[in-house]
Amino acid sequence: MIETDSLTKVFGKLTAVDRVSIKINKGDIFGLVGPDGAGKTTLIRMLCGIITPTGGNIRYLNTTGKKGPGGATRSFGYMPQKFSLYGDLTVMENIYFFGSLYSLKRSVINQRADEILELTKLIKFKKRFADELSGGMKQKLALTCALIARPEMLFLDEPTIGVDPESRKEFWKTIYQLNREGITILVSTPYMDEAELCKVVAFMDRGKVVAVDTPSGLKKSFPFKILEIKANTPFLDFLRGLEEVKDVYFFGDRFHVVVSNVEQARAAIVKEIAGRGINLVQIKEIPPSIEDVFVSLAGKEVV
Ligand SMILES: Nc1ncnc2c1ncn2[C@@H]1O[C@H](COP(=O)(O)OP(=O)(O)OP(=O)(O)O)[C@@H](O)[C@H]1O
Ligand SMILES: [Mg+2]
Repeated sequence: MIETDSLTKVFGKLTAVDRVSIKINKGDIFGLVGPDGAGKTTLIRMLCGIITPTGGNIRYLNTTGKKGPGGATRSFGYMPQKFSLYGDLTVMENIYFFGSLYSLKRSVINQRADEILELTKLIKFKKRFADELSGGMKQKLALTCALIARPEMLFLDEPTIGVDPESRKEFWKTIYQLNREGITILVSTPYMDEAELCKVVAFMDRGKVVAVDTPSGLKKSFPFKILEIKANTPFLDFLRGLEEVKDVYFFGDRFHVVVSNVEQARAAIVKEIAGRGINLVQIKEIPPSIEDVFVSLAGKEVV
């Protein structure tokens, strides 16, 4: 559906997006995952045609809209990272405003709005001012507005940031529902649990896409093993000094230690911890999670 080739955006001395080549297929839920400043928003804006790339190409394949950024907007829905609606307008007035940008007739907007508001569960709040909606409801309204022109593809830029866990779940249900109805979705997120929900995940770090695969593919190609440790200490950083240990980081209430050879590493770790008089509660091998994969790709922790 969209294919990029060495897509690049430079702002002054900063390369915000660095030679990104990805392919988003029709029907995908394509996740763009990465820490703050990785270049996710900049990449999305280029794909939607809002900003012009410094280098590289974007090809729009099999889209019904005109090819190229100018014509692409009609068949693309874009939900920006920052809340972009009018707080002093009601839910329905915001929808009319967006619909009018696409020259939709009021009767068409009314009919589509009812359908989408039913899906996003905002139907009861048509007359409420946008400013008076909760964070999760604001995001749903932004989604509703992005859907009003019936796009074939939706770009959602960190749609669940700052939204409570329950609303995040609901938001994802809606994403799946829309995808089942045939809408291709690109969604950016810093949350690892959301990466697991995507069909394909591209991991971005410092402007580059460093890995693209299905969540299970990413985990399968992880070249190391993970030892999970519970110990009565908040610090195990000293384990990095061991030859057998690639990395150590805190993971909820336990530690993850990245190793190549489980048995050798286990022996060395047990010895080192005992030598420091720390009580080792548990050490066991666990399968890598998607967060383990990303921590090792980025060399630092992601949310
Ligand atoms: N218009 C701009 N002018 C100059 N620098 C910019 C501009 N837009 C983005 N940048 C810089 O480009 C880099 C990538 O920013 P971008 O907003 O694309 O990252 P992001 O992955 O979306 O981050 P976040 O998760 O915080 O939204 C950052 O260092 C940012 O400061
Ligand atoms: Mg962003």
